[in-house]
Amino acid sequence: MPARRVAVIVGSLRKESFSRRVANALRAMQPPTLNLEIVEIRDLPLYNQDLETETPPLAWSAFRDAVRAHDAVLFVSPEYNRSIPAPLKNAIDVGSRPYGKSCIAGKPCAIVTTSPGAYGGFGANHQIRQAVVFLDMPTMQMPELYINAVDKVVDASGTVQSDKREMFDAFLKKFATWIERNIAKA
Ligand code: FNR
Repeated sequence: MPARRVAVIVGSLRKESFSRRVANALRAMQPPTLNLEIVEIRDLPLYNQDLETETPPLAWSAFRDAVRAHDAVLFVSPEYNRSIPAPLKNAIDVGSRPYGKSCIAGKPCAIVTTSPGAYGGFGANHQIRQAVVFLDMPTMQMPELYINAVDKVVDASGTVQSDKREMFDAFLKKFATWIERNIAKA
């Protein structure tokens, strides 16, 4: 069976983002059952229903097509003020519409949050969960992945701290199983 395609949506736009480091580390460790690909969100205009015409912004259409081509979604995000970074919330909003034709609704997903601080983005993690409930996205419950001290967990060369590799590996394998259980069967 071909690997399931997973759209990885990184909630930080920062060039040296720790969250992107984590996303890339997960990509490097992916099992043969998964194909993780980052779908970029930096060029998405802010969601505005007035632009939802027959010719929406090109960046919206490109994002929607890219997400639609994937079987599942992995959110990897920092926390901003105990909440979802605006670019990520915007991407979820863009992906959620047009009403009834969402590119993202119903896709199995998992959530990883990061912080150089102590709490690992716990607040953002649960706010992402709250948003995707309305999109009927089956969201992996366990294992949770709140990565605190993220700058040390994945270093600048992309190396994952040796005692965390097992945790990343278990997360990916469980996610692969979760996708198989929850993917919409045609
Ligand atoms: C932060 N940061 C932060 N960290 C955290 O653990 N909880 C929080 O609520 C916040 N709030 C917050 C708001 C704003 C506007 C910024 C810019 C930053 C710190 C944040 O975790 C840190 O900057 C990370 O490096 C951001 O993630 P990336 O860009 O490295 O992936």
